[in-house]
This record gives sequence, structure tokens and C-alpha cells, in this order.
Amino acid sequence: MAILWCVCSTIILSWIWTREASCDVHYKAEEVEIFHSDKQTLLGWTSNPLKEWTEIKLGTQTKVPVLQACGKKIKRTILSQWMERKDAHYLLMDISVAQEEETSGQLSPLQVHILDTDTRILRFQNRNALDLPMSEPFPVTVPHNQIWSHLNRSLALSLGSVSRRGFQLAFSYSGSCALIASIRIYYRRCPDIVDHLALFNGTGALSDLQMGSCVKGAVEVLPPVRECQEDGVWGPLQGGCTCEPGHQVVMEDTCQACRMGFYKPANETAACQLCPPNTRTHAEGSESCDCLKGFRRLPSDPDHLGCTKPPSAPVNLTAHHHNDSLLIMTWDPPHDWGGRQEVTYCIKCQKKADAGNQWEACGEDVVFLSNSTVLTNTSVSITQLNPQHDYRFSVQARNDISNLWGAPPSSTATFTMHRWKIPPVVITVVPSLNISEPEGVPAPQHKTRFSIWLTVGILFGVLVLIAIIPIVVCVLRSNYSKLR
Ligand SMILES: *[C@@H]1O[C@H](CO)[C@@H](O)[C@H](O)[C@H]1NC(C)=O
Ligand SMILES: *[C@@H]1O[C@H](CO)[C@@H](O)[C@H](O)[C@H]1NC(C)=O
Ligand SMILES: *[C@@H]1O[C@H](CO)[C@@H](O)[C@H](O)[C@H]1NC(C)=O
Repeated sequence: MAILWCVCSTIILSWIWTREASCDVHYKAEEVEIFHSDKQTLLGWTSNPLKEWTEIKLGTQTKVPVLQACGKKIKRTILSQWMERKDAHYLLMDISVAQEEETSGQLSPLQVHILDTDTRILRFQNRNALDLPMSEPFPVTVPHNQIWSHLNRSLALSLGSVSRRGFQLAFSYSGSCALIASIRIYYRRCPDIVDHLALFNGTGALSDLQMGSCVKGAVEVLPPVRECQEDGVWGPLQGGCTCEPGHQVVMEDTCQACRMGFYKPANETAACQLCPPNTRTHAEGSESCDCLKGFRRLPSDPDHLGCTKPPSAPVNLTAHHHNDSLLIMTWDPPHDWGGRQEVTYCIKCQKKADAGNQWEACGEDVVFLSNSTVLTNTSVSITQLNPQHDYRFSVQARNDISNLWGAPPSSTATFTMHRWKIPPVVITVVPSLNISEPEGVPAPQHKTRFSIWLTVGILFGVLVLIAIIPIVVCVLRSNYSKLR
């Protein structure tokens, strides 16, 4: 048992762990490359003054262009082509540079510039200057074909933010000799995600707050927003979505319609619930369950009660006389309470009219020994009955459904009590639906009983005769033999 529990909890833990891990994968930043000089064979950038920056190839086996400024020690610049920004907000650069040592011992900085512009700029502009990191300079004595071994690569240098349609890159330098190889411009990007029912379109790092939208079947609780951070990872979600009525969360990021027979009433994350008793749905994605035919719901009923109906009739309805004018009537609660907790009883008394065969209300003549004719217990005493009358009593079972919508005939049990001047009293219980009351006349029943007794008497007589005849014969024969 303990082992089983252990295994189970391990499985659950590892499931949670897997989900967390998969969440991380989900959030992983993308990198979008805008430019890479290694993928070009010719850059064709603009040098100012002309030819102070040149394009060379380092070594024999490589065709990638390398920029070089080794000449007069004046400020010389080189301006790139125009490049489209895409959805970058913030640019990064990987770059390899090498610088020759200077006789003064003081290295001139090699600077990079980002020109944020909608259209192509033709001449260098001294904007957004950024010093490239210095590294160990190579000595003047290094042969040309060895310089590549002094290139120093810097990764993910921040070039700052851009917002126009595109941009251009420029380098400026006033030292003796510098080389630039392998320029790679890129940006980090948060990917498209669906998380906690909110959907965000991917965007470049360091965007403003992004508006998300709710997945299908979900509604906003508060507008979902989140930020794409510098590292291309989504920041925390603010606001959020929840599944709309008739839909439940599945796998954290979808809203699935409730199956047939299930419902969900509100905008909330709760799961669909099974329809309560005596209700059904007509389609998937239901907000509520409808009553089955013959059942009703009261506005005040709690949801879980479902739909209910009036109770069936009370059972075992009997009555006996306490004395000539006091009758005690008892019954048992109905078999079917219609799905409700409450049942009360309503008593009706009718007596046969003096003339004719009509039943009429007992009126004031008969007194029920209880506060009202609506009862919660299963007996009632009735007094001031006239023993020369036939009476008919109905006990109707009721609940809140009957009180509001009326009680059907199937909720009532009835019995008829005949005048009891000639005892014993006879009670005929009849089903309520049977309106034409069969009149239980006492006389035939007496007749039946009498004929039973008569039969028994005759049978007994016959048996006695059968037993006596052999004895008489025996006695007569023995007398006869003595006489001989
Ligand atoms: C690159 O620069 C770093 C420090 O900036 C230095 O430690 C490293 O030796 C340099 N590499 C080369 C090949 O010059
Ligand atoms: C996300 O992108 C889709 C199409 O690419 C677009 O229809 C939708 O409006 C975008 N959503 C937001 C919140 O920008
Ligand atoms: C659920 O939310 C939507 C949008 O916020 C609203 O229009 C609707 O009335 C809400 N429904 C319920 C049942 O609360």
C-alpha cells in the first residue's frame, strides 16, 4: 500500500515537473538574424574619404569579406547598406575586430554607429557612437596572413533601440590600422505563446506592453497584457482570461465545450459539472441543464437539486373508529417524493348527500383535530362524524412543486367509509384516478362469510357420518353374533 502510494506520488511529481519543464521550452527566446557579413561575398559599403576603408579577404581559403582601415591616421568612416528592421526594437551585434598597436601607446577607439532611419542615408552621420571593446593590439611586425589570429570576437554587444522602418550601420576610426570581420546583427524575440488562455503574438525584445487576446471559448477577466523582456523572454502576465459559460479549461490553454450531459454556468475556470437529477442538455457547451418532461425547477432551488415533481400518493391509508364519532386515519409517506425533501398532506372530506348519489363537501359538520388541514405528520383524528352517513376521505401528498404548479391526481389516495350503524365498519381503498366509486355494500360480504360457514358445517357433518357409520355397523354385528 505504502509502495503504491509512493509510486503514485512520484508519477504525479514527475508529471508536474515535466509540465514546468515544458513551460520553460514554451518561453524560450528566439533569435532573428538581420545581417551576417560571413554570408556575403561583397559588402559594397561606402567609405569616406573614398577607399580609406577597403574590403579584403583574409587568408586564401576564405571568401568572406573583411573591412580594413590601414592608412592615413585621419578619421575615416564606412557606412553600410540600408537594412530592414523587421520587428526588432533593440539590436545586438556579434563582431570580430583586430587593432594594430600605436607608436603613442594610446589606441584610438574603433566606434560603431546605428543610424535609425526610414530611408537610406547616403552620407555618414555622427550619431549614436559606441566604442567597440578593445583587445590586445597586434604588433606592426605581424605578417598580413597572420592577422586573422589576432581577431577578437565580442558577442551580443548592445547597439541600442531602433524604431524606424530600418537602419544603417557605420564604423569610424582614426588610428593606424584596424580590421573588422564577421559582423552579425540580430535581435531577440519573444515567440508566439498561448498561456493561461491568453494568446500573444511574438514580438521583438524590449517591446512596449503587448495586448494579448483570449483563446477561443474564453473571455477577458481583465485585458491580458505582458512585456517582451530584453532577453526575449515574456515577462509576467497581467490581466487574464477565463473560459466562458459552457466551456472548461483543458491543458491550461484551451477552453473545451462541456460534453453532453454536463454544464458550466459562469465565466470561471471551474470544470463542467454533471447535470443534476432529472435534467439534460440539448447540445455540447451548455450553460445549464433543462428539466426532463414532467419535472420542474423552482427559482429558489439550489442548483444541485435539479428538477423535481409532485410526490406520488400516500400509501397504506387506513382508518379505525375510536368510538362512534371519532375516527383516526393513518397513512405512510409516498414511495416517490418527486426528488424533494419536503412533503405535506392535505385532507379532504366528502359525505354522500341525503338524497341521490352525489358527494358533497363535509363542511362544518366534521371537525379535524388539528390546527389546519395541511399536515406534516401521517395521521389525523376526525370527530363529529355521523354514523348514518357514508364518507369519502382524500389524502393528498404535496410538495413545493405541487404548491406552485398544482397537484396531479396521482398524488391523492382516497378511501370510502360506509355508514357504520351496522358494524363492522368496512373500508374500501381505491386508487384516486378511479372517480366512479365502487360501492362496497356490507350485505354480500356477510353472505359470503355465511356460505363459508355453511360449507364447513356440511363438510364436518359428512366427516362425522363417515366416521360413525362403521362404528354403528361394528356394534350391530357384535350384538348379532352374541345373539347367535
Ligand atoms: C580577446 O580579448 C580578451 C579581453 O578583452 C583577451 O583576454 C583575449 O586574449 C583576446 N583574444 C585575442 C585572440 O586577442
Ligand atoms: C496576432 O496576429 C494575428 C495574425 O497574425 C492577428 O490577426 C491578430 O490580430 C494579432 N493579435 C494581436 C493581439 O495583435
Ligand atoms: C462573461 O463575460 C462576458 C465578457 O466579459 C460577459 O459579456 C458575459 O455577460 C459574462 N457572462 C456571465 C454568465 O457572467
